[in-house]
Amino acid sequence: MSLQKQQIDHLKLKNFRLYETLDVSFSPYINVIIGDNAQGKTSLIESVFCLIVTKSHRTTVDSTMIKEGAEFSKMTASAKKGATAVELEMILSREGKKARYNHVEYQRLSDFMGQMHVVMFAPEDLMLVKGSPAVRRRFIDLSLSQLNRHYVYHLTQYRKLLKERNEQLKKMQKKQSDDRVLLDVLSEQLSHYGQKIIDRRRQFIEQLKPTVVNIFKSLSDTSMLDIQYEPSVQADFTKALKAKESLDIALGTTTVGPHRDDCLFYFGHHEVKTIGSQGQTRALTLALKLALIDYYKQEKNVIPIILLDDVFSELDQTHQHNLLALLDQEAQIFMTTTDLNNIQNHAQHNIKVIQINQGTIKGVDTHGKYL
Ligand SMILES: Nc1ncnc2c1ncn2[C@@H]1O[C@H](COP(=O)(O)OP(=O)(O)OP(=O)(O)O)[C@@H](O)[C@H]1O
Ligand SMILES: [Mg+2]
Repeated sequence: MSLQKQQIDHLKLKNFRLYETLDVSFSPYINVIIGDNAQGKTSLIESVFCLIVTKSHRTTVDSTMIKEGAEFSKMTASAKKGATAVELEMILSREGKKARYNHVEYQRLSDFMGQMHVVMFAPEDLMLVKGSPAVRRRFIDLSLSQLNRHYVYHLTQYRKLLKERNEQLKKMQKKQSDDRVLLDVLSEQLSHYGQKIIDRRRQFIEQLKPTVVNIFKSLSDTSMLDIQYEPSVQADFTKALKAKESLDIALGTTTVGPHRDDCLFYFGHHEVKTIGSQGQTRALTLALKLALIDYYKQEKNVIPIILLDDVFSELDQTHQHNLLALLDQEAQIFMTTTDLNNIQNHAQHNIKVIQINQGTIKGVDTHGKYL
């Protein structure tokens, strides 16, 4: 079965970050978004990410994406999945968000997600290796959310139950409640969803690992990489919750579970975050994202949309070449840059250059005028 290419043909924004309005068409292949600092390059590709994933790649607070002073933010896209035309729409307001797919509103965002696929490369990716476990959990969760709506549902249920269990633990800590039966019920439900999340995340890392190791080797000439999913619960989650119950009550919070899990990268016995060079760290983050593209191809039979935020300016010529060679030539790609010199040596055809200034389009070129 041939792969289904996904692409955004046309995008409209209203009150999204600095954009009051934007109306722009894209090339099915390479789109270069060029502009000085703080003109709206990242915001543009963030909106594409958000339309597909229903979340930003750079903030967990949705309301920050609404234009300062505006009530709501709206994104609309005409897209294609293979030969099928589809319409995507997201509305963010202070009350929450709504998503429409082919003009039909989805009551549950988990049902909307997974219709299209996108992989973002951003400067923040270095934090995948260097940052806290929360960054790695978010990467895994956002990646799996595009694959499987059950995963999104399990995650939502888990978070809701975790909040309820923590509230009950706080009451018991303050001796406002001694309802052990309620605590047991919450613990049981929490472990039900938690175990599903742990299993799926572990499987995902195991599936991703060989590809990451291979790509990392080709990007960095280092072959000793290992990746391990590290759940905070090693064996049975229900038993672990029971074992930690007194501690949880004393602290008023749940101390074990997937909300405390991590994923570690090793060179031999040492963590990459402690002994990896800057170049190796960057190569590892690129390898993770490239492996994710591969994963969507294998699992979903799709060529995802690829977003590259400021990636080329950080790489030397050789690594730029290596990265471009590894990217799918068929994919729709969006790349941002402040300087066309960063990319002009590589890209020759099928390019659309979109010049952005203060949240408006200053010029569009498809004939190599800028190059
Ligand atoms: N909710 C918002 N309302 C209005 N303006 C915003 C909002 N969020 C961000 N901005 C502003 O939008 C501008 C553009 O930000 P963006 O990150 O898209 O720039 P950029 O072109 O990617 O810049 P750089 O080259 O520095 O990465 C910034 O000045 C930022 O302060
Ligand atoms: Mg930017």
